[in-house]
Amino acid sequence: MYYSDEIIEEVRIKNDIVDVVSGYVRLQKKGNSYFGLCPFHNEKSPSFSVSRQKQMYYCFGCGAGGNVFTFLMEYENFTFQEALKTLADRAGVTLPEAEYSKEARERADMKATLLHINKLAAKYYYAQLRQPQGAAGLKYLKDRQLGDDMLRAFGLGYSNKYSDDLYRYLKGKGYKDDMLAKAGLISYDERQGVYDKFWNRVMFPIMDVNNRVVGFGGRVMGDAKPKYLNSPETPIFDKSRNLYGLNRARRSKKTYFLLCEGYMDVIALHQAGFDNAVASLGTALTPGHASLIKRYVNEVYLTYDSDDAGTRAALRALPILKDAGITAKIIRMEPFKDPDEFIKNLGAEAFEERILKARNGFLYSLEVLRRNYDMNSPEGKTDFMKEAATRLAGFTEEIERNNYIEAVAKEYRVGYEELKKLVVRMAVQTGMAAPARRPKSGKSKEKGKEDGILKSQKILLTWLIEDEGIFNQISKYIVPEDFSDGIFRTVAALLYEQYEAGEVNPAKIMNHFTDEEEHREVAGLFHTKIRELSTPAEREKALKETVVRVKNNSIEEAGRNWNAADLEGMQRLMKAKSDLQNLRKLHISVN
Ligand code: CTP
Ligand code: MN
Repeated sequence: MYYSDEIIEEVRIKNDIVDVVSGYVRLQKKGNSYFGLCPFHNEKSPSFSVSRQKQMYYCFGCGAGGNVFTFLMEYENFTFQEALKTLADRAGVTLPEAEYSKEARERADMKATLLHINKLAAKYYYAQLRQPQGAAGLKYLKDRQLGDDMLRAFGLGYSNKYSDDLYRYLKGKGYKDDMLAKAGLISYDERQGVYDKFWNRVMFPIMDVNNRVVGFGGRVMGDAKPKYLNSPETPIFDKSRNLYGLNRARRSKKTYFLLCEGYMDVIALHQAGFDNAVASLGTALTPGHASLIKRYVNEVYLTYDSDDAGTRAALRALPILKDAGITAKIIRMEPFKDPDEFIKNLGAEAFEERILKARNGFLYSLEVLRRNYDMNSPEGKTDFMKEAATRLAGFTEEIERNNYIEAVAKEYRVGYEELKKLVVRMAVQTGMAAPARRPKSGKSKEKGKEDGILKSQKILLTWLIEDEGIFNQISKYIVPEDFSDGIFRTVAALLYEQYEAGEVNPAKIMNHFTDEEEHREVAGLFHTKIRELSTPAEREKALKETVVRVKNNSIEEAGRNWNAADLEGMQRLMKAKSDLQNLRKLHISVN
């Protein structure tokens, strides 16, 4: 859905950033800004600042920054649209309705109905657990050492012994059989008629990232089979795209997730303070799960069951995570079965130690592979090394591959060079040799330089926002076109427009970028760390160097793209070069 700049700006203006952030962070006024403990990293003294005047926040500790939309996107892990909707609701702004086709409208209505039914069911189960008829369920959960806070946090409940009470309850709320069946809460057969799918089980509501109940898992309270019964896939429940606990884990400050197998593992881990645990709920990890994870973290610690099935599942998950660009490590639970039992027996500190000792995923997979070979016989070891080399050839990044070759050579006591040759040989033999990589743009040698230029452009943008006095001094020399094509140039153009209109408002510029990636990148542009420079002379020198560098790069760029027939272009270029000379002599006064 596309919203106009006007409506986005209206929502932003009606949500004062200090008020919104105060809902999450305790802020204290100091001078012109408000300070608090940064919600994006762990700290003891406040380095998180919010400016009412600029309507922006910035953390001097971790560099997080942006406007009110960015804050919700970062804190709640919302998309831009979600942040916009939330803030529109908060301020009572009505967003224009999307124009749906009839089918789309019906489907949206149906999903809304299913969500509503699930919510009612979850509340019903939750209430049952606290009634006399739920005593057995409550006792079961207490015996498994779950505290009240966790029961509440995960919304645990109980489906009682009557096999049609939920059905009757939901019917009483006006829902029809077909919808209840679609929600997966009732079943039907000729002999028994309609009956509840879940009865006499403790209930685990499964929530999506936005805390909406999309399905349930129900566990028997003894050894009967099946141990767990789960909601079927429905229009709102796609098992391959849901992770249990993600609604909580996404708020964790940790930069990685603990990925485990079961409901109880997640809850036990959260109870022990590991608020970054999620589970794929007994189903194999899918690329859908991996890309969902990648929205939040780049690293995952697998803490699957220590039995054969768990080991196999972990090994299968590794390449899926790798493909999604996630690094994986493996935590072993031995001698216990799963994280739940581990923590019950050894406690949180011991688990923390296991996290520290986690094994690199690839090296772990070789360790498992090794069990199939007789490493004491020369043939056995050779065969193993060949298989290892074949797998090493799978790393397409040269540096990464070499690092792994080094690690494997060291661990299995073979020569680095020999192993490297073997990797090449196996790559050729198995036809896996990676095709020559074409750098995305220009020569890859230029990459470092390119990054340096972008950094200078970022610094200049930050500076232009921080110190409004310099615009008039440098706008003669630097124009938006001097910034690299793409968001840098767009941001510069918008900023220049604002300066010319006499109203500098970086928070408004950010509205322009509704794609999450871009939005975050732009937030970064405004908050580039400028070295702490103490004297005005030092600051002036640094600023001048930056300006010269940006201009110089822009001239070089234009020179590269210059077409020999374009005389005017050449004149412009020469003028720019002489301007640059003047620029080097320029005196800029900075604050
Ligand atoms: N599972 C399932 N159906 C089953 C068994 C398991 O859906 N019949 C799923 C559940 O999501 C379960 C996960 O697979 O949480 C892991 O299974 P398992 O290790 O057997 O159960 P635990 O999570 O250890 O549960 P508990 O501690 O209650 O035995
Ligand atoms: Mn268990």
